[in-house]
Amino acid sequence: MAETTTRAVPPKGFRSAERGWPELHRIPRPPYRLPLLGDLIGASRATPVQDSLRYARRLGPIFRRSAFGKEFVFTWGAELVADLADESRFAKHVGLGIANLRPVAGDGLFTAYNHEPNWQLAHDVLAPGFSREAMAGYHPMMLSVAERLTEHWDLAAAGGRSVDVPGDMTKLTLETIARTGFGHDFGSFERARPHPFVSAMVGTLSHAQRLNSVPGPLAPLLLRRAGRRNVADIALLERIVDGVVRERRASGGGDGDLLDRMLKTAHPESGERLSAENVRRQVITFLVAGHETTSGALSFALHYLSLRPDVAERARAEVDRVWGDVAAPGYEQVAKLRYVRRVLDETLRLWPTAPAFAREAVRDTVLGGVHPMRRGAWTLVLTPMLHRDAGVWGADAEGFDPGRFEVGAVRGRAPHVFKPFGTGARACIGRQFALHEAVLVLGLLLRRYELRADPGYRLRVAERLTLMPEGLRVWLERRG
Ligand code: HEM
Repeated sequence: MAETTTRAVPPKGFRSAERGWPELHRIPRPPYRLPLLGDLIGASRATPVQDSLRYARRLGPIFRRSAFGKEFVFTWGAELVADLADESRFAKHVGLGIANLRPVAGDGLFTAYNHEPNWQLAHDVLAPGFSREAMAGYHPMMLSVAERLTEHWDLAAAGGRSVDVPGDMTKLTLETIARTGFGHDFGSFERARPHPFVSAMVGTLSHAQRLNSVPGPLAPLLLRRAGRRNVADIALLERIVDGVVRERRASGGGDGDLLDRMLKTAHPESGERLSAENVRRQVITFLVAGHETTSGALSFALHYLSLRPDVAERARAEVDRVWGDVAAPGYEQVAKLRYVRRVLDETLRLWPTAPAFAREAVRDTVLGGVHPMRRGAWTLVLTPMLHRDAGVWGADAEGFDPGRFEVGAVRGRAPHVFKPFGTGARACIGRQFALHEAVLVLGLLLRRYELRADPGYRLRVAERLTLMPEGLRVWLERRG
């Protein structure tokens, strides 16, 4: 196919695969396809990612599924994903669940289309807020939020009660991004129930996921009640965020955090600033993107640490050695927890908590030298399967082994085989923030507690665009 160079394609609603993939018939699909409904046998609306993992195992490194007349192509084979990482031929595609979040996040950084000028503007203005220096500045606040968690967990340990891991990790990560980025205190640890911001966020994320599983034209009818609830959830998120911004404007300014950048910083070249409407979109984006995925990553990591005393012991020994008995570890001491970081990487390998990202062809091209794609055609990269490709990770790819992230092992692997934070220009801006926060918190928890798993618990993974272990509780024992 001739390669014609052009810009990313401006969106024109949903693009089904038939038009963009001239040789679609060569891509495997499930055997039993129902007329009109598509490949729905054995599929659940609640677990689209886990269903896709099952299909992937049967159908191979690239496959397609159809639902209600729409055809989707999924890619997970390491070589094909490496090809999709080529930024000269592919770019982020804003589709499916992410496009469904546009009513709440608009042209905020995560949901912006590539051609929207506010993406570059916000990216350039906000990127310095994620520099190493900025991280070191957030560190004391991250520590102080983590101490709120340990006060709460000390009580549970003393009372012989188990803790609600995802619930408490969500409190921790919401408070961390809210206080470091926006100088706002949601008071999560003082509440018996989740903050209304969290409930509204879970509502909008779940709604965005559900919209994919009903026929497009019927969605307004089938999801009428859910749609009304979604409008109310969005209104609540906007009210909360408007309050945060109002507070800041009234106070005259913070200490140079993300919100200060959003409100005051001009683009270094154009001198342009974010509009009030765009600031609102960015605050919602960062409050949501900045806590939900990190909360899941910490929860899955604690699940594995509670199941694997050998791994927990090794990680704890590292913390004791590197931190000694300093009451509050410094910024530099967190980066030195290499084994704890490997535990986190291995967790994100098996359960990348943002489990897919979409790539579209920016010109006519041939994926992996085999599958022709027209400009604008797109595919969903199924990260948990990429991370379980036996050709890269071996026959025991499903097993938990932090040793896979030892320096030598990482160097021995091809690039683009580990992508929990996405790829290219639109990869996660908050990666270092998440990693610093998560390693710090795991270090503090390992140093303070022994974790005991509930022997009856079997991992169940809840999906709401992100992944989260459901119903996970662990028991704690204070260390000497
Ligand atoms: C373990 C935690 C995290 C994971 C697994 C994660 C994963 C991802 C992924 C896969 C993308 C790319 C999505 C795509 O291509 O469509 C992304 C983008 C993004 N993430 Fe994260 N993220 C995490 C933490 C954070 C944090 C802490 C923040 C903010 C403080 C954040 C803010 C963002 C933003 C704003 C984008 C959009 C970037 C752009 O398009 O320019 N994330 N994240």
